[in-house]
This record gives sequence, structure tokens and C-alpha cells, in this order.
Amino acid sequence: MLSLRNLQLAYPSPDGEPPARVLDVPTWAVAAGEQVALVGASGSGKTTLLNVIAGIVTPDAGEVRLDDTDIARLDEARRDRFRAAHIGYVFQSIHLLPAFTALENVALGMKFADNRAGKAHALDLLAKVGLRERARYFPRQLSAGQQQRVGIARALANRPKLALADEPTSALDARNRDAVLDLMQKLCAEIGAALIVVTHDEAVARRFPTTLRLSDINRVN
Ligand SMILES: Nc1ncnc2c1ncn2[C@@H]1O[C@H](COP(=O)(O)OP(=O)(O)O)[C@@H](O)[C@H]1O
Ligand SMILES: [Mg+2]
Repeated sequence: MLSLRNLQLAYPSPDGEPPARVLDVPTWAVAAGEQVALVGASGSGKTTLLNVIAGIVTPDAGEVRLDDTDIARLDEARRDRFRAAHIGYVFQSIHLLPAFTALENVALGMKFADNRAGKAHALDLLAKVGLRERARYFPRQLSAGQQQRVGIARALANRPKLALADEPTSALDARNRDAVLDLMQKLCAEIGAALIVVTHDEAVARRFPTTLRLSDINRVN
């Protein structure tokens, strides 16, 4: 389903030094529906890797294949469309739009949000994350845990093949952390989405059947 090959990425240095190598991943694959925790220290390149997989950052070389599509080779417009259709992203800092309600935040990226079925689907998702009664609340009226549950509903609204989560529970207490992870795992299993959760927290990693260290796949350390 997802497969990386000979992926290389370096960030330009601000002061004319040689570029700083962050990723050198000879090969990595994630199967359809697989759930993986990817663990690494702060600054080791976890966010960069997720951004490369999502097509937000373009690698210097290599392949990022989701089924038959090499995301790294698409132009920007196609990449944006491909991401919207097939990849769900749960951000560390959540990134809900403050001027829109929970329901609108979920519906905004949806393919069929402007019809009745679309609205019903968005509401159904909010119900699944336990926020049916909060659908018309704005982000500032929700706790951090509730906001991240909206973030999960939004990421899964288009039934992506692949869900990516970047330290999704780092702003949450232990109880909310477990609730958010359970939800993400259950909903991804329901729609058959593969799930990659990036974390530096061993308590998060322990909840996954497969745990991998970034240093197991990345030759830059
Ligand atoms: N846009 C950028 N420009 C230059 N360097 C960056 C940029 N983003 C990240 N880096 C550097 O790349 C390395 C990996 O960062 P990141 O992927 O955010 O790590 P992690 O998510 O594991 O903490 C760090 O050394 C960071 O300073
Ligand atoms: Mg990070």
C-alpha cells in the first residue's frame, strides 16, 4: 500500500553550511490496514517523514508510493488533490479553523459536504468521536482532547487509505491520550485505513501492535 524507496531529504542550512541531511530511507512499507507506531527522539525527522509521505514536503530523491501513485512525482495541484482524497492527517497542534464550528471543520474538506448525505456523514463522524452534542461549538469552546477528536473526525471524513498522526496526544493528559488513541485505532480499523502514529512517548507506542524506531529505517542519525 505505502512504500518508500531510496528516500533522501536534506534541509538547506541558513548560513551557507552544507545542507543538513534528515532522511535517508532505503526502503519502508506499510500494508493496507496496518497500524504502526514510529518512535524517535525530538529532532530526529519524524514530522519531516510524515510531511514527505503526505506530499507536503518534496524529497530530494526517491519514491513515495501509495498504491500505484508516486506522490513525490506529482505536481503541486495533483498532490493536493491526491492528499485530500486518500490521506488523513492528524496534526500535533490540531489546526482547527477557529471561525468554524466542529461540524464545519469536519465537513470543510469533505467531497460531498454540500449535500444532505455529506452533512449527515460529518455529524455521524462527530457522534463516533463522542461529540454529537458539541457539533455547533467553536474550537475555543472545546477542550484540547475534544479538539483533537474533531481533528480525527476531520482526518477520516473522506475515508482515506492512509491516516498519519504527528504526536497527536502530546497536548493531552493520560486519560485523553488513551481515549484519542483508542478512537483513532478503532475508526481506522472500521474504514480499513492504515495508520502511522509518530511519537516520542513510549506509552503511546505500547498501544500499537507494531512499533518501529525511526533509526530502524532511517540511515541518518
Ligand atoms: N523547514 C525546515 N528547514 C530547515 N530545517 C528543518 C526544517 N524543518 C525541520 N528541520 C530540521 O530537521 C530536523 C528534523 O526535524 P523534524 O522532522 O521536525 O523532527 P521531529 O519531528 O522528529 O522532532 C531537525 O533538526 C530540524 O531542525
Ligand atoms: Mg515533530
